[in-house]
Amino acid sequence: MGAPSTVWDTAKMALMLPLLPVQASLGNTGLLPTPPMGFNNWARFQCDLNESLFTETAQSMLSRGLRDAGYNRLNLDDCWMHHDRAADGSLQWNTTKFPQGIPWLASYATKYGFHLGIYEDAGNQTCGGFPGSYGYERLDVETFASWGIDYIKVDGCNVWAEDDRSLRDEYRARYGKWNEVLSELPRPLIFSESAPAYFADNASDWAAVMDWVPRNGELARHSTDVLVYVGEGSAWDSIMNNYDYNTLLVRYQRPGYFNDPDFLIPDHPGLTQTEKESHFRLWASFSAPLIISACIPDLSDEDIAYLSNEALIAVDQDPLAQQAALVSRDGTFDVLSRSLANGDRLLTVLNRGPVAASTTIPLERLGLSQVGCEYLARDLITGEDVTLQNAIEIRLDSHATSVHRFELPEGCSVVTPTGMVFHTPSGLCLTASGTTVAFEPCGGSDSQIWNVLTETSGKLTISALSDKSLCLCAHESRVLLAGCRSVGTNWEHSITGHLRNTDGGCLTKVSGKVTIGDCVVDNAAQILGLPSGVHLTDGLTG
Ligand SMILES: *[C@@H]1O[C@H](CO)[C@@H](O)[C@H](O)[C@H]1NC(C)=O
Ligand SMILES: *[C@@H]1O[C@H](CO)[C@@H](O)[C@H](O)[C@H]1NC(C)=O
Ligand SMILES: *[C@@H]1O[C@H](CO)[C@@H](O)[C@H](O)[C@H]1NC(C)=O
Ligand SMILES: *[C@@H]1O[C@H](CO)[C@@H](O)[C@H](O)[C@H]1NC(C)=O
Repeated sequence: MGAPSTVWDTAKMALMLPLLPVQASLGNTGLLPTPPMGFNNWARFQCDLNESLFTETAQSMLSRGLRDAGYNRLNLDDCWMHHDRAADGSLQWNTTKFPQGIPWLASYATKYGFHLGIYEDAGNQTCGGFPGSYGYERLDVETFASWGIDYIKVDGCNVWAEDDRSLRDEYRARYGKWNEVLSELPRPLIFSESAPAYFADNASDWAAVMDWVPRNGELARHSTDVLVYVGEGSAWDSIMNNYDYNTLLVRYQRPGYFNDPDFLIPDHPGLTQTEKESHFRLWASFSAPLIISACIPDLSDEDIAYLSNEALIAVDQDPLAQQAALVSRDGTFDVLSRSLANGDRLLTVLNRGPVAASTTIPLERLGLSQVGCEYLARDLITGEDVTLQNAIEIRLDSHATSVHRFELPEGCSVVTPTGMVFHTPSGLCLTASGTTVAFEPCGGSDSQIWNVLTETSGKLTISALSDKSLCLCAHESRVLLAGCRSVGTNWEHSITGHLRNTDGGCLTKVSGKVTIGDCVVDNAAQILGLPSGVHLTDGLTG
């Protein structure tokens, strides 16, 4: 196992980020250092939840080993409430559904080694039409804490802009209020924010919302809900939709804050065994929340086995909390990579195509380009080890995913963040051609895979694998490729998604062309995705 590379330094990055006064989340990474794991009723049972569903689920999670594998949260979703508040304004549970009450259920959960989580809404009503928390945030948070709950998901249905505010400013104000009241508790609850999901169809608004989300809470639902059990349509397409959204948000994730692409749905009747297992492997590669929404007692032993894969859970729960990012995308294979806390490198490959296929991935694409190094790659599904020097060949069935963990030997621990640099709203890839660059459809060639080096100055230099002697360079309003020591080759990347030239403005997409423009926080033409592990500056935010 090699020491973590000095090329990137996530710990330092996390310290540099907070810009606004920080309360619950980034100032308190101890609240949720690694992503949550557990059960939620929604995708499988929707409003048909009750006490016995939760107690039977808990017993099944215990006897089938899921709790010991790390799934230690039981989260209630919408529809747990009585349809009216009590005379003193406080929330009450539906006593038909929860005859012994939510505080009883919380102590039951604790007794068996679980935590209980709950659901509310930032608007006037929940999505299911029950009382929302708008105007009652403090009372509701105090109520939940007094019931023994330590995790809350706050949805964003039925929020209307007040006064002259824009809707996105309204969400900011509402979720800011939640952060404030949660932060005032002696023990803040873990705060899951659904706000970004309400803006996912507009790249500018989405970026503006994502700008504050990691500072307010510990995780965020950023895109539409995964298909529910009784829903119509393709469950695999729904998983791929949320997967794709998640790939746009790599730079936000860090210990204490997690992007949430929604539940695992292992008993969805529309999924093949291969697809369910892919779902789990992709979410673990992301270090995403692993919240199962299924009838746990009815899951097959095969399902329990893949959900309990220790090596993949260790990746999910890795303390570095890096999210796997796209290295390449060629229409069939998505290749993703990230680092782990002990310096190891992860390779995740998904075959999105309709038939089985093979691909060969040079290790240079994983950011491992030291000469004369031999790496031990462990297949985290089969447990088999293979020693590699230059490349790895992967063969996958349609919709299957492989995950390999590369051990970096002594003297071979240098990792350079490497992968796609892409315009996230369009998905187009920054593409090198001679000394010019353009945004083009991603095809997986070396001209679309970039080394992003952090110089000792903290500035980035960016070169395509097709010709590493040339670096991305800004010259007035033009962007081109020039010798890596030329003026104009130093860049900064920030949480807004900007790539700012230290001698000028921000890299901007104008149709397929790459130009330099004034940096504007929610300018959708300037929102870029970079490999994971790229050094972030606080340059523009705030
Ligand atoms: C509780 O909910 C489950 C799942 O929806 C259902 O099968 C069961 O009949 C319910 N039990 C009671 C007592 O309502
Ligand atoms: C409680 O839930 C039951 C369904 O389980 C429903 O029939 C009843 O109307 C609910 N009561 C209240 C007060 O919301
Ligand atoms: C929403 O709730 C607020 C605060 O209780 C209230 O002032 C407002 O009229 C409500 N809006 C609607 C549309 O019900
Ligand atoms: C996205 O939202 C921004 C700002 O709220 C607005 O100016 C823009 O027109 C919206 N874009 C689309 C495509 O709706």
